[in-house]
Amino acid sequence: TAVKVKKICCIGAGYVGGPTCAVIALKCPHIQVTIVDLNQTRVDAWNSLDYKLPIYEPGLEDVVRQARGRNLFFSTDVDKGILEADLIFVSVNTPTKKTGVGAGFAADLNYVELATRRIAAVATSSKIVVEKSTVPCRTAESMRTILEANSKPNARFDILSNPEFLAEGTAIDDLFRPDRVLIGSLQTPEGVDACASLAEVYANWVPRERILTVGLWSSELSKLAANAMLAQRISSINALSAICEATGANIDEVAHAIGYDSRVGPKFLKASVGFGGSCFQKDILNLVYLSESLHLSEIAAYWRQVVEMNEYQKRRFAKKVVDTLFNTITNKRITVLGFAFKADTGDTRESASISLVRDFLSEKAFVNIYDPKVEEAQIWQDLSEAVPGTPLEIIKKSVTICNDALSACTNAEAIVVATEWKEFRDIDWQVVYDSMNKPAFVFDGRMLLDAQKLKEIGFNVTVVGRGGRP
Ligand code: UDX
Ligand code: UDX
Ligand code: ADP
Repeated sequence: TAVKVKKICCIGAGYVGGPTCAVIALKCPHIQVTIVDLNQTRVDAWNSLDYKLPIYEPGLEDVVRQARGRNLFFSTDVDKGILEADLIFVSVNTPTKKTGVGAGFAADLNYVELATRRIAAVATSSKIVVEKSTVPCRTAESMRTILEANSKPNARFDILSNPEFLAEGTAIDDLFRPDRVLIGSLQTPEGVDACASLAEVYANWVPRERILTVGLWSSELSKLAANAMLAQRISSINALSAICEATGANIDEVAHAIGYDSRVGPKFLKASVGFGGSCFQKDILNLVYLSESLHLSEIAAYWRQVVEMNEYQKRRFAKKVVDTLFNTITNKRITVLGFAFKADTGDTRESASISLVRDFLSEKAFVNIYDPKVEEAQIWQDLSEAVPGTPLEIIKKSVTICNDALSACTNAEAIVVATEWKEFRDIDWQVVYDSMNKPAFVFDGRMLLDAQKLKEIGFNVTVVGRGGRP
């Protein structure tokens, strides 16, 4: 029979574990939820009295304000969290491996394994262990082997896969009203019971018909597949955007027309300077690696192309800037508006802005950067990783991080909109124009601005996916 969950521990207080378990706590006042993390600074930020939380996410502060101290706790005491819990989410980071076998493709499962071994070492009673991080297929199987090889008498472990589908920037909405909750389990009586226990938790606010229960491997693969299909839509529309630019068609009109087909649907067809974020590229490369290791090289090549198209889109956009500025940007000042990988987040992982700035720097341009939410230290870290071998002091000679959009644009030759922050639309563009060198160029990588209005002011405007200037 299914255990009724009373105490939940979440290992990893990041972008996934933090918001997800905060919402579980909010929606399940009868369950004690403790989110643990090794990173003291992060935990302190979650616990900060003025709610300076470690991640920016609309609506998150409100959730934490309601639940923290009631039945939601943040702690660095990982062992205590494990000991007390009936159900443990493993929500640690799984970056792409940088070295060793599968470098550049495979997921680094070191953090998952360490967390799993900690559970095995500490637990004295039975636990349901839920894999929440994005991981390659069959990770649950490895976790099970580690747990079973190290378990104590009276402490049995049931493993579930419960991938998170929230998107950053809308995490709280996505968690409140998920399209679906997916739970994978072994199809044994114990596995099915564990699955029922977790389903019971979600049923506190998610309609039953949206809680899907499947096999362990289907669940793991579904997460990779869902992200691969979403990213593939963007690469497809971005591939079409290049044709539009070359022919004079308009990608907005094309996407609109395509999306009207109910088999295709209107969402997620927005051409852009390229997708970013911690998931899309990583998950596709995982899928590529999985396909290769199954000797399915044609399948690997198919999915790899989705990532290659994205790299091409980013390079193509940077090249367009250079070409339009009379084939040189050396010693010219380029303003990059937006550094986050999408609006409403401070996250920069795989952000297109990083590639753009790297390309501008390699052309010896000066770059001004402004983003409303990204921390300055984060930008410096991203740039020093993007230009390996160049000391940060040298990069800082060419890059200026600005505190507002207007000052970022002053004296620039060109402005590049890389993130679709709403505030960029509301800038006083006449003031910006007056402050710039002439001719003044705008490159809209997000189809965000009113191009017609900008042209009337006098800007030379280039929009992704829009061909020829009238
Ligand atoms: C994604 C998935 O949407 C989510 O379900 C999964 O759990 C994690 O990965 P996320 O990366 O947070 O979420 O944001 P998403 O909204 O999917 O955007 C990813 C990137 O694609 C962003 O850079 C965004 O700007 C870009 N994008 C998205 C486009 O360029 N065009 C679109 O039409 C949609
Ligand atoms: C297609 C388009 O659907 C239609 O809008 C366009 O005007 C002409 O091309 P058609 O080729 O007649 O129409 O049929 P369609 O239902 O799209 O199927 C095409 C092929 O895809 C068929 O062989 C079908 O079996 C296959 N298919 C379709 C799948 O294998 N899986 C699916 O999920 C859907
Ligand atoms: P995600 O986007 O997947 O949530 P993050 O990097 O934002 O990834 O968060 C993962 C968190 O997991 C980090 O704060 C990291 O400190 C934490 N973490 C990693 N390994 C462990 C571990 N063994 N025990 C506790 N916390 C861990």
